Amino acid sequence: PSVENTHPHTDCGSTIFVVHNGIIENHAYLADALKREGHWFSSETDTEVLAHLIERVITAKQGSIVLEDAVAEALRHVQGSYGIAVVAKSEPGKIVVSRRGSPLLLGIGDREFFAASDTAALVRHTRRIVYLDDNELGILMPSGYEVRNLRKKPVTKSVELFTGSLQDVEKGGFDHFMAKEIFESPDVIRNALRGRVLYRDGSVKLGALDSASNEFAGIQRIVIVSCGTSYYAGLAGKYMLEELTGIPSEVVYASEFRYASFPLMKHALVIAVSQSGETADTLEAVREAKRKGALTLGIVNVVGSSIAREAGRGIYNYAGPEISVASTKAFISQLTIFVLIALWLGRQRHLSLEAGQEILRELQQLPNKAARILSQSPSVAVIAEKYAANNNFLFLGRMYNWPTALEGALKLKEISYVHAEGLAAGEIKHGPIALITEHFPSIVIAPNDSVYKKMISTIREIKARQGTVIAIAAEGNKEIQKIADETFLIPQTIPLLSPILAVIPLQLFAYHTARVRGCDIDKPRNLAKSVTVE
Ligand code: F6R
Repeated sequence: PSVENTHPHTDCGSTIFVVHNGIIENHAYLADALKREGHWFSSETDTEVLAHLIERVITAKQGSIVLEDAVAEALRHVQGSYGIAVVAKSEPGKIVVSRRGSPLLLGIGDREFFAASDTAALVRHTRRIVYLDDNELGILMPSGYEVRNLRKKPVTKSVELFTGSLQDVEKGGFDHFMAKEIFESPDVIRNALRGRVLYRDGSVKLGALDSASNEFAGIQRIVIVSCGTSYYAGLAGKYMLEELTGIPSEVVYASEFRYASFPLMKHALVIAVSQSGETADTLEAVREAKRKGALTLGIVNVVGSSIAREAGRGIYNYAGPEISVASTKAFISQLTIFVLIALWLGRQRHLSLEAGQEILRELQQLPNKAARILSQSPSVAVIAEKYAANNNFLFLGRMYNWPTALEGALKLKEISYVHAEGLAAGEIKHGPIALITEHFPSIVIAPNDSVYKKMISTIREIKARQGTVIAIAAEGNKEIQKIADETFLIPQTIPLLSPILAVIPLQLFAYHTARVRGCDIDKPRNLAKSVTVE
């Protein structure tokens, strides 16, 4: 981001102004041609070529062409996607808009007209909306509006009345942001992978690591610092990193790291994980790590946030804004990014090409598998309703799904105010098993992995003490269905990726429980979305 790259963009003489949502794919080719003709560019954006293309058409016609025709002519040369709005000094009082691939709507007000890329931006002003289709062009003037195709032929459009509320638009038809965000998981995984998979190399492209590959290839220890949900993502990340890279890794609460005399030897990498990028403890932990001479890397969702800037190098989640206080889609995205980092580092070391490719194949199947779980949300709601009156829950998992258990418990606590404890399942017999009664249900995460048999033993131990078991198991599993009180099946995947799928039913469980209990789901009491104080 820079002032030069900020919209609107303009032509050589600053007479035409363009705002653009989308990407002009052949912009480099067009810009080269325009520069050869003497056009002078002042930004690094793809958008600026549009202003120069329009300028070229107007100059060629010696000004004897109206703006809408010049825009239509210019767009003939463009490949890619766009939703644009254009104004020209020579024709004040006129806005020309057009779209291909990117959304564009007109708002029809009372002697006023609007253009926007989203209904949410219009509802404050008007509820009468014209939805433009690809290759259509709109002309807005104080006296009225007109829609035509790029060949100047008028198009009759119907004005639709939007009857929902602003909240409805923003929540995308869901009752709560939390539900909307959980249901975004397939897209969140796709966004974390987009443009990063190098299948032929069994590896990934990560700008932050690629640009300093020697430094990253030489690291000997990894310390992950974060808080809350991001800490649990880090805990799963530690297992992933150790499995794929062999580099000793640990995860430390940022609030501990910043105050403890934490030794960081040479060649240490400190990874800071934060959805908001503003968590005070994590920010300070990054500063402390830098002071101790460590290489720092951020996994951050909010672009341009303090942690993203402080860490210097980073990988963005691109998970989109997370509005609900309880973090859900960010967790899924953070886990996906950890797999990518572990793959990148692993391929620099011992991880084989085949192993890397297998992980990538499995990763690419995750969005559809996540969507299958989401389609089962009503079954999770039935289980949640049945147990919503219970005031205590245990969440149990091992290895990759110990963090999942911790995260499942945290979600339930924060949004439904039910006491829940997440445990490494092996620990249950060292004390917590004393709590088990039929009114203290255990949620046991037992996909098909190397600790599956151990999880079966855990389930039997609980059942032997008249405990209630709600199990998360892999599709096709019949054994658990026979012994657990409730079983929710998730698609099979490799153990490394299992927390990404297993956490979804737990997020849904917390959501449905909170609903039944009548809690304020998106704004739980005493909590803030980003904790900017220590
Ligand atoms: C839980 C939750 C918090 C945050 C924690 C860290 O649902 O939202 O536990 O995960 O406050 O926040 P970030 O990731 O923004 O640093």
